Amino acid sequence: MRNLTEQSISDAVLARFSECPDPRLNQLFSALIRHLHEFAREVRLTPDEWMAGINFLTAAGHITDEKRQEFILLSDTLGLSALIDIIQNGDKPEQTTESSLLGPFFREGAPNLPFDADIAGPVEGERVVLHGRVTSIDGTPVAGAMLDVWQAAPNGLYDLQDKNQPEMNLRARLRTDAQGRYRFRSIKPASYPVPTDGPVGKMLNAVGRHPFRPAHVHFLIAALGHETLTTALYIDGDKYLDSDAVFGSRKSLVVGYSHFDKVANDREPQMDAIKFDFVLNPSPQRG
Ligand code: BEZ
Ligand code: FE
Repeated sequence: MRNLTEQSISDAVLARFSECPDPRLNQLFSALIRHLHEFAREVRLTPDEWMAGINFLTAAGHITDEKRQEFILLSDTLGLSALIDIIQNGDKPEQTTESSLLGPFFREGAPNLPFDADIAGPVEGERVVLHGRVTSIDGTPVAGAMLDVWQAAPNGLYDLQDKNQPEMNLRARLRTDAQGRYRFRSIKPASYPVPTDGPVGKMLNAVGRHPFRPAHVHFLIAALGHETLTTALYIDGDKYLDSDAVFGSRKSLVVGYSHFDKVANDREPQMDAIKFDFVLNPSPQRG
């Protein structure tokens, strides 16, 4: 048995992984061990601090269930989710709409609703219509694109956090028409705090960070022949735009309210509108 030192322990551990038959797994573990060990050396990590970290992760596990994912929230608040999103999507052609975090509140199975549907259900708030087109990068309209949309109510809660909202409220699956147009009615989104009743909330508090996300509406857009786009629109003027707790807001995704055309909107003539055209990246050709 060799004598291990502060430096040689890292080499000994790396050697144990060196026989890994999967080259990618090998790369992931080697880098993880190098950075983890270097972190401990750099900060001179104490046993008490190490234990506090273990307790933190244990608490994250305990609070996680099918409706609450504290580890994703941790990744989000540490900026890791946003970094992975940028690594994955940062080299897309610049005409395409930027992506933004999916977040933990997406749900499969939102109701299929028609063009111009109202997704707000019984929730009251300032009314808004969201509309625009989905096109490919050459400007061709994308007909039949599927838009999953979801947002929080003005109380800052998504349906699955709020017993006063019906199941799947403020969510819908919508299709673009033959000209690539989409349109739906809702209420204006509000800024809201990410869940703070778990270890991540304690962490934000301990380091003096606020937990708020700027007001936004989420979109997941899927269309044949195109890469699926996960994104969100952020409301201009929101005071948290530059300090989003999960680093998701992007300048190119900030939208303001405009007045909606009365003729097209005779049901609710005083309504504000958000107009945004989404541009999808064609899928790589196989062959
Ligand atoms: C969201 O926008 O739904 C969200 C994203 C990351 C963490 C918490 C919430
Ligand atoms: Fe959200």
